[in-house]
Amino acid sequence: MTISVKYDATAAKKVWGDYDPATLIEDMLAARTELFEDVDLFNSGDPVPTDKQPLDAGFIEWPQKLLFEYQADQENSLVGRIIDAAEMLQEEVDRVVLLGIGGSYMGARACFEAMCHPHHNEMPADYRDGVPRISFQGHNVDNDATAGLLELLEVLGDNPAVFDDRWALVPISKSGGTLETAVAFRLFREALEEFYGADSDEATEFVMPVTGEKGKLRDLSDKDDYTVTFPIPDGIGGRFSVLTAVGLLPAAIMGLDIVKMLEGAAAMTRKFKSGQPGDNPVFDYTVVCKAFEDDYDMPIRLLSTWGLRLEAFGFWHDQLLSESLGKQEKGATPLTVVNTRDLHSRGQQHQEGQRDKLITNLIINGSQTDDVTIPEADRDQDNLNRFAGKSLNEVMSAAIQGTNQAYAEENRPTADLTVPELNETTLGELFQFFMLSTALEGRYMDVNPYGQPGVEAYKQNMNRILES
Ligand code: PA5
Repeated sequence: MTISVKYDATAAKKVWGDYDPATLIEDMLAARTELFEDVDLFNSGDPVPTDKQPLDAGFIEWPQKLLFEYQADQENSLVGRIIDAAEMLQEEVDRVVLLGIGGSYMGARACFEAMCHPHHNEMPADYRDGVPRISFQGHNVDNDATAGLLELLEVLGDNPAVFDDRWALVPISKSGGTLETAVAFRLFREALEEFYGADSDEATEFVMPVTGEKGKLRDLSDKDDYTVTFPIPDGIGGRFSVLTAVGLLPAAIMGLDIVKMLEGAAAMTRKFKSGQPGDNPVFDYTVVCKAFEDDYDMPIRLLSTWGLRLEAFGFWHDQLLSESLGKQEKGATPLTVVNTRDLHSRGQQHQEGQRDKLITNLIINGSQTDDVTIPEADRDQDNLNRFAGKSLNEVMSAAIQGTNQAYAEENRPTADLTVPELNETTLGELFQFFMLSTALEGRYMDVNPYGQPGVEAYKQNMNRILES
């Protein structure tokens, strides 16, 4: 299978003049070799040297591993079990509440916004193709947001025998100890038990934890005998876990073809492993980003997404880059914008502000729905008849070209990451693209991309303050 993601940095390279990235490319190739040596070390089970700990290289070959297992064991494989569980929820409940934060939240959110109807939760059941409404919580300790969802569940559902009232809970936490998710789980589990009855079958069938091999949520799941639980494997870190049950179970509940997601991701890994510089999107993108950061003093990495569907994907990427490489006083700063919306808020700065940004456009050619066109009007008071017949996709395309032209005229670097359409395969490609690039960059800059020691500081303080 070939990949569909295309990377074109022609415009950005014009800013380079006679700069030659040969040394950078050589060093990046060494980093790629190291990344795959990490995979071998990880697979060998041999002790991991201290300077490589934690070594969460499991995500690199994981998609292919799951696909092999699925081919061999079908419904008994992890993928098969996820599909079964998702189908059961689709048949039994009208809403699924997903609880999780950080890597246990952002990938699922990205899938939801990228692939579901923009007004999914407001659509009647038959327009949703049997997909439950999806609500997210556990990604904050916001009183109003939590109370609001609890209230919604109560107001909309008072009869467990009525399909429209029924809901299920999927708590997702690798460690099982994250306060935000744990508190939400306690609250929503209580609400669920109140709704169905604490001793009802639903109280165990409709709570489907996704969690690590060890930890409080795992213990609790075993003790409370939840009928279906899913593992998060050791060796795959939170923000690299979207293609484990962390993202795949929510995606399957949303009606996405998770086999296609995995196929897209596996193809991306193959291309990255063997592609030569110049014909290897992950590698080429990482080289360009690094060149601008290190040699042109442009540490802001702007992911300029064209379409509202990609905003949550951008936030997923923000976390991936920030938590993986923001260490040892290093690491580029990611920033997601959604255009054309943000041209009206941040565009000014990108055009004329500090020269500290590399702009990567994330472009989907076309849309998932039929063209919406600008109609001809009898009275042309808004003077829009000159555009009558043009589709919004054409307007978007003109905005992309016009914006990039304006940046080029100011010698502002832009590159394009393009996919022909947004579907499960291309989404899988994109997830793996950015995860591979981030890990590669970490090895290149001698920063362990795995682990997030800095996040502990706030947690410890928060717990101490709460306990005092
Ligand atoms: O990338 C990471 O590891 C983190 O962002 C975690 O995903 C986040 O802190 C949530 O952790 P957990 O899944 O253990 O609740």
